[in-house]
Amino acid sequence: MNNLLTNESIRLHADNLKITYIIGGNRIEALKGVSFEVKTGEFIAITGTSGSGKSTLMHLLGCLDVPTSGDYFIDGENVATMNRDELAAIRNQKIGFIFQKFHLLPDLNAIDNVALPQLYAEKPEVEAQKKAIQALESVQLGSRIDHFPFQLSGGQQQRVAIARSLINDPTLLLADEPTGNLDSETGEAIMKIFKKLNKEKQTTIIIVTHEPEIAEQADRIIDLRDGLIKSDTKISTLLSIV
Ligand SMILES: Nc1ncnc2c1ncn2[C@@H]1O[C@H](COP(=O)(O)OP(=O)(O)OP(=O)(O)O)[C@@H](O)[C@H]1O
Ligand SMILES: [Mg+2]
Repeated sequence: MNNLLTNESIRLHADNLKITYIIGGNRIEALKGVSFEVKTGEFIAITGTSGSGKSTLMHLLGCLDVPTSGDYFIDGENVATMNRDELAAIRNQKIGFIFQKFHLLPDLNAIDNVALPQLYAEKPEVEAQKKAIQALESVQLGSRIDHFPFQLSGGQQQRVAIARSLINDPTLLLADEPTGNLDSETGEAIMKIFKKLNKEKQTTIIIVTHEPEIAEQADRIIDLRDGLIKSDTKISTLLSIV
């Protein structure tokens, strides 16, 4: 019940988000004005060709980057008005982020990598380790908890990153190509975990994917092209049942 109450408050509103990089005199407009709203409990897939701005957008949505212009609101609050501590608290308590390139700490084993967000949230270490083991078991890595990233395959590292993103029970889960390094069977198992969270806890989920069969499992597909939204399509309930 508690979770449902917290989830009720998640609302995202992106208003004309632009990101321009200037590299050696060249202007790269990674996002050229992206606007959309996300309701509580939506499950959205972001698709688009390589370089279309998907990761750039996800970093903005995860409060890991700031736009060159435009506004981004979480729960009605403009992210631009938050100070560093408020942003850190939102990232730690509300948002689970799965990076395209895992971002695991090389000197920590799987269990310590996964437990880290709990420690940032000042949870006791014993509890954090216990939760980390459960999270690793949920992604079928119960037998690898002592392994360091270099001892794990790409797909296994991806699953450690997924376990880490879920450990603080985020109400917003942002996943950049979460199944990109996984075989289709493991990818489906991960999608099952996401769908369960979405259904049972109303977790708002946004995933980037280039796989149509993954995207079609979402409620809505936002397709990016050259830094702009090319289409924003709600998959009808009828279609998703078939
Ligand atoms: N830090 C940066 N500095 C300069 N340009 C950048 C930076 N990050 C991204 N870009 C550029 O912005 C554009 C969008 O990049 P982004 O990583 O968002 O694409 P993507 O849709 O995630 O692609 P992929 O499917 O290959 O992951 C690209 O042209 C990229 O080269
Ligand atoms: Mg990307």
